[in-house]
Amino acid sequence: MPRTAIAALGTAVPDRVVTNEELTRLMDTTDAWIRERTGIEERRWVGEETSNSDLALAATRQALDRAGWKATDIEAIIYASLSPDHMFPGDGCFLNGKLGLPGVPALDVRNQCSGFIYGLSIADAWIRSGTYRRILLVGSEVHSTGLDVSNRGRDVSVIFGDGAGAALLEATDDPGRGVLACELHADGRYTRELWTDAPGSRYHPRIQPRMLEDASIFPHMEGQKVFKHAISRMPEVVRSVLGKTGLTTADLKLLIPHQANLRISQMVQRSLELRDDQVFNNIMKYGNTTAASIPICLDEAVTARGVKRGDLIGLAAFGAGFTWGAALLRW
Ligand code: UT7
Repeated sequence: MPRTAIAALGTAVPDRVVTNEELTRLMDTTDAWIRERTGIEERRWVGEETSNSDLALAATRQALDRAGWKATDIEAIIYASLSPDHMFPGDGCFLNGKLGLPGVPALDVRNQCSGFIYGLSIADAWIRSGTYRRILLVGSEVHSTGLDVSNRGRDVSVIFGDGAGAALLEATDDPGRGVLACELHADGRYTRELWTDAPGSRYHPRIQPRMLEDASIFPHMEGQKVFKHAISRMPEVVRSVLGKTGLTTADLKLLIPHQANLRISQMVQRSLELRDDQVFNNIMKYGNTTAASIPICLDEAVTARGVKRGDLIGLAAFGAGFTWGAALLRW
C-alpha cells in the first residue's frame, strides 16, 4: 500500500504587517499584554484586493515551483478554511478555477484550527486506497475582514492573522517516508466556546440588522476554557498517535503545534517533556492563522531546523468545535 509523502510546501502571507502597536490605536490594549499573554508580536492582514483563495493560490504556486509539478499534476484539492471568500461554493472550487483544473475534485474542510490535520487524514486515506496519487492540501484564512477591532472584541482580534499554507502530497512506495498515522477528535459539547454565531441558516431570515448590534457576526471565545482544553488535548493526542506506531516523544525530530498561543505551545512542550530544539513556533510573526498555521509553521521549520529525509515529524492541533488531532510523518 502506498504512503503519503509531502513533495513540497508553500506559504503565502499578505505583505501588510500589523504590529501590536498598530492595534493599540484601534482598541484598549498594549504591546506588553499581547506579548505576555500570547507571544504574538505582529500578524499579517490582507488588503482589499486579496481574497482567501488568492492567498491559497499563491501558496500553491510556490509549492508547485518547489516540487517541479505543473498544476495539472494535481488530481484532487482539499481546502481547509473557516473564512471562505463566499458562503458557497467552497473555496476549493474557486481555487480549482484559479489553477485551471476543470474536472478535478475539490473538497472543503470545515474543521477550523484542526482543518489541516483533518485534511491530511482524508488525503492519506485517498492515497493509501489508490484513489488519487497527487493531492493538493491547503489551509488558508482571511480573519482580518471579520474581526471586532473595538474594545469589545479585543481578546479575540489581537490573536488572529491572515495567511495560507499549501502541501503537495504524493504517493510513495518508500517505506522510510510518509504519513505513519493520523488521529482525529471532536467534542460537540463545546461548540459555543469558540464560534461565530451569525449569519446562520438557523435564523429566519439568516441575516438580520440586530446581528451587527449584538456582535454575533464576530468570533466569540471563552479564552480560558479553550486554553485549558488545548493544553491537555494536544499532548494527549500526540502521545496516543505515537503509541499507535510504537514510537516515543524521544523519536521526534520536530513537533509542530497549531500556533494558537505561544504559552499553549510551551505548555504542550513541557507536558510532552520535549527539548526546545524539538518544537518550532512562529506565532510571533503571524498570529493564529487557524487552518494555515501548521503548514506555514512546518514550511519554515523544515529549513530552519534542517529537517532531513526520514526525520520524524509530529503535527498537533486544537480548536473550535472543539476539534483536535495529530499526525505523524517521516519527512
Ligand atoms: O486557535 C483556536 C484556539 N484558540 C486558543 O487556543 C486560544 C486560547 N486562549 C488564549 O489564548 C487566552 O485565553 C487569551 C490570549 C485569549 C486571553 O488570555 P488570558 O490570559 O486567558 O486573559 P483573560 O481572557 O483571562 O483576560 C484577562 C484580562 C481581562 O481583564 P480583567 O477582567 O482581568 O480586568 C480581559 O478583559 O485581560 C483583559 N484583556 C485584554 N487586555 C488587554 C482581554 N483581551 C485584552 C487585550 N488587551 N487584547
